[in-house]
Amino acid sequence: MSTTSADLLARLDAFRDATLAQLEAAASLEALEAVRTASVGRTRGALNDFKTQLPQLPAPERPAFGAKFNAVKVVLEHAIEERHAALTASRPAPAALDLSMPARRQWRGGKHPVTLVMEEIESIFRDLGFTIATGPEAEHEWYNFGALNFPPHHPAMDMHDTLYLEGGGLLRTHTSPVQIRTLQSYPPPIRIIAPGNVFRRDFFDASHAPMFAQIEGMAVDEGISFVDLKATLANFANRFFGQTITRFRPSFFPFTEPSAEMDVACRICNGSGCATCKQTGWVEILGCGMMHPNVLEAAGVDSERYSGWAFGMGPGRMALQRFGIPDIRLEYDSDIAFLEQFAQ
Ligand code: PHE
Repeated sequence: MSTTSADLLARLDAFRDATLAQLEAAASLEALEAVRTASVGRTRGALNDFKTQLPQLPAPERPAFGAKFNAVKVVLEHAIEERHAALTASRPAPAALDLSMPARRQWRGGKHPVTLVMEEIESIFRDLGFTIATGPEAEHEWYNFGALNFPPHHPAMDMHDTLYLEGGGLLRTHTSPVQIRTLQSYPPPIRIIAPGNVFRRDFFDASHAPMFAQIEGMAVDEGISFVDLKATLANFANRFFGQTITRFRPSFFPFTEPSAEMDVACRICNGSGCATCKQTGWVEILGCGMMHPNVLEAAGVDSERYSGWAFGMGPGRMALQRFGIPDIRLEYDSDIAFLEQFAQ
């Protein structure tokens, strides 16, 4: 028996009415979506089944059926849209904010361990009556070497140690040029510390880096002696390290005479020897000495009337000691897991 147009049209009406009833009954967006896919859905919709019947109709009857098919489709799609709008509008409002819920933890960042150490050193010396001075990182050779009594062709000026800039000048290899710049700007009495970065062509190992922080210290006045230097540094070490053994060793710098270096007993290995202290049990934290008269004179200070002392300390090394950091390279790695431990 061949399908007749009247049959199909009647079934299409019945399908439409049944689907409209289902849409009316759909109580949620999920239920509505289920009705939609089962009726007008592109792959599983029952309406498609009617379309496949079209070729079986006698040709003259096809246009009327096609028109009816399209009309039903439009009616159903419209009804689905309306039902969707109605269900969306009647959805319950979101629950009120729960103000007692714990807030999400916010990471605010923290200071680098070397910064923490520098700030502490600065604060100790401020308590002792020192002010903070600064100078440029790109320096003239004269400030970095000449004025500091380096003889011409001193090995420290070698290309191996110093980073020279194109067209003259260099990256300062220590903060000592700030001694000269300060003396040129202010008359004694002077007590300053000068924190800043310095640059050397060092190998990068457990205790050396090509750029590192230094803090210069200087006191110039009438009658300043080595006693003042030792007392100041001993006082500083007691405040900074607490109960730590220090020792002074005679040393040499062109800009100080006499010169010394101050060591602290290594706190990484408690003096028994490790990579940080190169198995000696001691770590050098600063160089110091009485300012050479030539340095005072180069800066325009009367060395008959005034004397002074200076030191240069390495806060990077002091941070290793202070926090028990085993390798100075950790200070340069920007490893958040490492740095997080110092956040306050
Ligand atoms: N400038 C010296 C250095 O970098 C340290 C120092 C400073 C020594 C002042 C004596 C006096 O090693």
